[in-house]
Amino acid sequence: MPNPSHPFLAACRREKTPYTSVWLMRQAGRYMKEYRDIRAKFSFLDLCKRPDLATEITVTPVERLGVDAAILFTDILLPLEPMGVGLEYSKDDGPVIHRPVRTGKDVDLLPEIDPQGSMPFVFEAVREICRALNGRVPLIGFSAAPFTLASYLIEGGGSRNYLHTKRLFYSDPGVWRVLMERLSRALVKHLNAQIAAGVEAVQIFDSWVGCMSPEDYRRYVLPYMRTMIEGLTPGVPVIHFGTGTTGLLKLMREAGGDVIGLDWRVDLDEGWRRVGYDVGVQGNLDPVALFAPPAEIRARVKDILKRADGRSGHIFNLGHGILPETPVEHVIAMVDAVHELSAS
Ligand code: CP3
Repeated sequence: MPNPSHPFLAACRREKTPYTSVWLMRQAGRYMKEYRDIRAKFSFLDLCKRPDLATEITVTPVERLGVDAAILFTDILLPLEPMGVGLEYSKDDGPVIHRPVRTGKDVDLLPEIDPQGSMPFVFEAVREICRALNGRVPLIGFSAAPFTLASYLIEGGGSRNYLHTKRLFYSDPGVWRVLMERLSRALVKHLNAQIAAGVEAVQIFDSWVGCMSPEDYRRYVLPYMRTMIEGLTPGVPVIHFGTGTTGLLKLMREAGGDVIGLDWRVDLDEGWRRVGYDVGVQGNLDPVALFAPPAEIRARVKDILKRADGRSGHIFNLGHGILPETPVEHVIAMVDAVHELSAS
């Protein structure tokens, strides 16, 4: 059963909590032997389509690490599969989109998707995970932000300079608008269906939006983010996340979200000052700091907590996803340090 007074959800609402909540982006993943063992038998996409396995992969880190929230095992790129653009998770190059969208005609041919009908396994997994968690910790659902999803769709995979993406909005802003509106509609449906199935908070990953200048963000990202967030089922906290966003934090906050993600390139106190104290913040340990000795990790945790200054509305996390080589014992040391050092 959902428990609205859980510290993680209370922190999203900036209510006082007995200790600081902590979870990790990519906590369900390759740094865990349990994950690698299951992954040895199935492809990543197959895992995403098996609610029983997605449940096991989601719940294991909660039990192993003692974190305060679970995050659904799925991927931000999954909605590209029903769009028919040829999504593949390749072994060496990460995700590849075999038929990238680059022209007005490509955008016109992109179908409107119905996530409930085309990705039923995602919502089945949410229901099964909620049953397995049984109210121990809340489940976070997630999706990409329209910009980050568009960047994969247009570039055909990861990118360094986002040349095709930027060229499209500079040269054909009308086509960009049609694309961003179509993606936003699909993502709103996807998140609202996760909420209907039982997730208690959602995170929107605008992982690569840090490549934008503030003026381009204002023009080509902010309006769509705002419409997307306004379209979500009310009452469910929204975490708005990006990386490399130090110069964009005020604008991200303007776009919306109850909690704004901070990466490690900005001090937490400075980041919080920029977004304003009337929203929460999540972050912001450097994922590579988890390779430091546990005493050093504890010192870094202490510094971040000091910068949060006991203010309500801080959720501890890394500034980006955990790396596959990270020692699990160091992750546990970090989680324990957050709980111990923040307990009032
Ligand atoms: O946080 C979690 O544990 C929940 C699951 C989750 C995954 N992907 C599973 C996954 C989440 C929240 C994501 C988000 C995601 N996916 C993002 C945003 C976060 C970020 O890191 O910026 C992005 C950009 C993606 C796209 C993606 N998926 C890439 C670039 C890759 C390949 C590189 C990599 O990190 O592995 C994936 C594959 C992927 N998604 C894996 C997992 C566990 C690894 C697949 C494997 O086992 O081979």
